[in-house]
Amino acid sequence: MKKVNWGILSTAKIGREKVIPAMQQGQWSHVGAIASRSLAQAQQVADAMGIAKAYGSYDELLADPDIEAIYNPLPNDQHVAMTLAAARAGKHVLCEKPFAMNAREAEALREVAGKVHIMEAFMVRFHPQWLRARELVRSGALGELRTVQAFFSYFNRLPDNIRNRPEVGGGALYDIGCYAVVAGRFLFEAEPLRAMALFDRDPDFQTDRTVTAIVDFGDGRRLDFTASTQSVPYQRVQAIGTRQRLELEIPFNAPLGGSTRLFVDNASLPGGASAVAETLPPCNMYTLQGDAFSLAVRGEIALPYGLDDAICNMRILDALFKSGQTGHWEDV
Ligand SMILES: NC(=O)c1ccc[n+]([C@@H]2O[C@H](COP(=O)([O-])OP(=O)(O)OC[C@H]3O[C@@H](n4cnc5c(N)ncnc54)[C@H](OP(=O)(O)O)[C@@H]3O)[C@@H](O)[C@H]2O)c1
Repeated sequence: MKKVNWGILSTAKIGREKVIPAMQQGQWSHVGAIASRSLAQAQQVADAMGIAKAYGSYDELLADPDIEAIYNPLPNDQHVAMTLAAARAGKHVLCEKPFAMNAREAEALREVAGKVHIMEAFMVRFHPQWLRARELVRSGALGELRTVQAFFSYFNRLPDNIRNRPEVGGGALYDIGCYAVVAGRFLFEAEPLRAMALFDRDPDFQTDRTVTAIVDFGDGRRLDFTASTQSVPYQRVQAIGTRQRLELEIPFNAPLGGSTRLFVDNASLPGGASAVAETLPPCNMYTLQGDAFSLAVRGEIALPYGLDDAICNMRILDALFKSGQTGHWEDV
């Protein structure tokens, strides 16, 4: 089977540092072109990364007939418009998270959904530690899963960074809170009914710098999480059942090419002393994500997540933002 030929939309940091090198290691993915608003910038990155073609505009990349799939890591406010443009040009699109600014905007992609593959790039869902965690939940090892609890933070007050610019979709919920939402949906394998959130905004940037939320999945099941762009870096996911507690040590930024650990604790000893560690072998979740998408492009597997999934996620973010304004529970 021939590798899928990918084009990269922009010289975004996440592409340069993580996604492109990972895809270049893929069994089914080849990175054939990169575009930037500046040809010099595109050329420089192409030369440094061994990418054959460089374009000085995004439109030129979309017009390249050799490119089959696009990776879209543009600022959040451009995700839908450029994913739509790429899809209309007949390209399959792996689009970075958050998929859109809101669910309504994402609905515009229904026009092209049946024609090409479109997936939101939540690479964590391809990591064996997430798959193993879900397997443990499914097996009943935790008893009944009652609570998924997530924390995700870093400290970034750089004024030019897209995370601190509200006009391009900055803020903690869009940038990292969305991962916690995915963790809840992934482990409960359900969609929530309602959500509530408390936001703290940066006085200068006006972005949400800390968000704390409760997401109600019904029947006593809830996700609660805090995400912050201005706290000491930390991340954890716990799945708490009626009999055991499961913990993912590095749930979101698992070391690329490194091993990971999860813990299962029956609480027979206090303070987590009875937790049993399970080590997952080294992998690169961006490689796994790229190859899964490429296999779907070739028709070898069904696309694991599509437009409906991305819209479901956006509906939850919408409800959380609305709750921040109303101070009430909001239906999803
Ligand atoms: N999945 C993950 O692990 C992960 C991690 C980090 C970020 N992300 C997502 O990836 C996306 C990019 O994040 P990043 O941190 O890599 O951002 P970044 O380095 O700022 O890259 C964004 C790129 O978009 C292009 N661009 C076009 N219009 C722009 C504008 N008005 N302002 C700034 N840049 C503009 C620029 O490329 P050119 O100059 O080449 O045109 C820029 O390099 C975001 O959606 C983010 O949520 C995902």
